[in-house]
Amino acid sequence: MVEEPTKAGFAGGGDRKGEDEQVVNPWEVTAKDGGKIDYDKLIEKFGCQRLDESLVRRVERLTGRPAHVFLRRGVFFAHRDFNEILDVYERGEKFFLYTGRGPSSEALHLGHLVPFMFTKYLQDAFKVPLVIQLTDDEKCMWKNLTVEESKRLARENAKDIIACGFDITRTFVFSDFSYVGGAFYENMVKVAKCVTFNKVVGIFGFTNEDHIGKISFPPVQAVPSFPSSFPHLFSGKDNLRCLIPCAIDQDPYFRMTRDVAPRIGYQKPALIESSFFPALQGETGKMSASDPNSAIYVTDSSKDIKNKVNRYAFSGGQDSIENHRKYGANLEVDIPVKYLGFFLEDDAELDHIKKEYGAGRMLTGEVKKCLVEVLSELVERHRKARALVTDEVVDAFMAVRPLPQMFG
Ligand code: TRP
Repeated sequence: MVEEPTKAGFAGGGDRKGEDEQVVNPWEVTAKDGGKIDYDKLIEKFGCQRLDESLVRRVERLTGRPAHVFLRRGVFFAHRDFNEILDVYERGEKFFLYTGRGPSSEALHLGHLVPFMFTKYLQDAFKVPLVIQLTDDEKCMWKNLTVEESKRLARENAKDIIACGFDITRTFVFSDFSYVGGAFYENMVKVAKCVTFNKVVGIFGFTNEDHIGKISFPPVQAVPSFPSSFPHLFSGKDNLRCLIPCAIDQDPYFRMTRDVAPRIGYQKPALIESSFFPALQGETGKMSASDPNSAIYVTDSSKDIKNKVNRYAFSGGQDSIENHRKYGANLEVDIPVKYLGFFLEDDAELDHIKKEYGAGRMLTGEVKKCLVEVLSELVERHRKARALVTDEVVDAFMAVRPLPQMFG
């Protein structure tokens, strides 16, 4: 069998301790010695490809619109076969998008929004259908939530996801507890038969003490990559390609999926993968859900945002004004500048801030003020959009129904 190429063999998430200096898998993101994640190393170890400038230009050419900030600025920095998706599209054929969320918390933070904002852009730019998986089963098992609580969180999170602006005529949102069965389950069994225990240990680092719910979960996240898992949408379109936008910590699931796909006669899904949104305290990994001061939540008020940014956002500015004027800010570690890189869309304004701040002519306080404005506006916009997402709207997105205009 042909394995997905990785420098470190098929393992990647499995080698958690010891010789390995940084750990990135769906449950753990830690850099070496509390430092930054080395994304180049990750690309090499996982065996994915770097998303270069020429691909970004190609997306602009094909879609006839400017690339999303997250593409332009390298937030989405790695891929697997994204070029093949563009080939398909260029030939006038379509593909579908698949992304998801594990509903582990009530409110989403800005990092959680990143893949959904990007997926919304992809949906608009390519005019393609999208399936969004809410893995309430996953979080029930990993976070030890009750079935009822996981289901409740899935619905709450669905509202925040829908508030990102997805097109209801092209989007199917489903939760595992309610949708798994039928053709979806048949595909899960096909996948499961191809993956040995040794293999998931290698990929995910499961141990003998992990319960079998965890060990048997990966096929659940794998099969939305296959059109035949959605007969109400893609009946007779078994060769439709799938593109998965996700953060790179989800790569192990899809390495497994891509490995199995050809053996069961399916197309491998393509991936477009992002780096992690840094915590307010600094860029050492993902934000921690257990520390509310490490992240800005979509439920934070403008006052909360101002407080958090002013008190906790790690600054690359110097310790005195004199030194700051003399040496300038260290933009490499400065969180306000990093956050502006995600959410300040105006390239000229961002460049101006970087130049002035880096040269010490602009102070940390001024940059933070700008960030507070940008984030407050974003969160306010989200709050308004979410208020419009009623239970009926959620039901409508989650209804198992055909989407007749989905490629139109
Ligand atoms: N496991 C992911 C999480 O914990 C949820 C998820 C399911 C997902 N399917 C996905 C994420 C596809 C990205 C792409 O958040």
